[in-house]
Amino acid sequence: MPDSVPGPVLSPVLEVTDLRVSVGDHLVAVHDVSFSIGRGESVGLVGESGSGKTLTCRSVLGLLPATGEVDHGRIVLGGTELTGATRRTWNEVRGTRLGAVFQDSASYLNPSLTVGHQLAEQLRVKRGLSRADAHRRAVELFTEVGLHDPEGVFHRYPHELSGGMQQRVLIAISVSCEPELLIADEATTALDVVIQAEILDLLGRLRETHGLALLLVTHDLAVVAETCERILVMYAGEIVESGTTEEVLARPRHPYTQALMGVATIGTWERRALEVIPGQPPSVGEDMPGCRFAPRCRFATSACTSGPVPLADLGGGRAARCARLDALEGALA
Ligand SMILES: Nc1ncnc2c1ncn2[C@@H]1O[C@H](COP(=O)(O)OP(=O)(O)O)[C@@H](O)[C@H]1O
Ligand code: SF4
Ligand SMILES: [Mg+2]
Repeated sequence: MPDSVPGPVLSPVLEVTDLRVSVGDHLVAVHDVSFSIGRGESVGLVGESGSGKTLTCRSVLGLLPATGEVDHGRIVLGGTELTGATRRTWNEVRGTRLGAVFQDSASYLNPSLTVGHQLAEQLRVKRGLSRADAHRRAVELFTEVGLHDPEGVFHRYPHELSGGMQQRVLIAISVSCEPELLIADEATTALDVVIQAEILDLLGRLRETHGLALLLVTHDLAVVAETCERILVMYAGEIVESGTTEEVLARPRHPYTQALMGVATIGTWERRALEVIPGQPPSVGEDMPGCRFAPRCRFATSACTSGPVPLADLGGGRAARCARLDALEGALA
């Protein structure tokens, strides 16, 4: 029986159950991950670089790299089974019911077409709008995502836009078909802090106006603290803690979450990279007898490595994967 993160109160728009993803020569990079996202909910997926966040997202989007494979698990989007879906189904779902924005937005834009053409074409093909209506709607969307001179931007090529503007264009394209869920994977990482804050603000507003759910993936805990209602903490391919952002950050129950908080600074704290927790995560595919965080955990005892550590439901929508939950309660805040 897979252990699973307690779900949202609202009816789920996305249900991921027991998802296992391997890369290369059958090296498991995502270990039986289960979680769900409610309609209109904002969920942050956080963890150090290499923890399996992008592979999880790409599995949901049907966009795994050629060397990656879903070994088992289920992905259901608003009642539609995506597990083992055909390329045609994925193509229908992506850009209509599922939107995505990545860090390298430029590589998702066609360099030889104006950005307006690319958005209008999406509206024509996926929403059946006429040429004139698609143009009008594209300019509206460019306005909505905060692009100044939206009519002028319509006629520009991607290389004529800054990174922040390209990201806004990609967000406009992603929300143009009113998706149920928008996945933003490190969407603001490459941008400077001011633009990053503006884009996060924009995602929050779009969530409200378009009623979409948001899966925000980041290695920056401060971003989740500012943007998300619920948080999933991932370490070495596993979800190790989840709950409302407020509660998890106020009272972390997993030593890894606490370690992240010690280095990711929130609010007025200075922002730093997460990769300063001492030690290294296990390699992809590395088999470990118990807790995958044990070699780096200052609370580790022999109890932590004697067998698999399940994700324990702590009630109130919280869960944590630690063999010493009782002993450490109150010690981590
Ligand atoms: N195409 C790939 N081929 C081989 N290994 C990969 C590939 N994509 C990701 N990995 C490995 O899988 C692990 C998880 O990667 P990823 O999901 O990108 O992590 P994150 O997004 O959390 O930084 C990493 O160790 C990464 O090196
Ligand atoms: S199970 Fe043990 S090693 Fe793992 S996080 Fe808990 S205390 Fe640390
Ligand atoms: Mg990533």
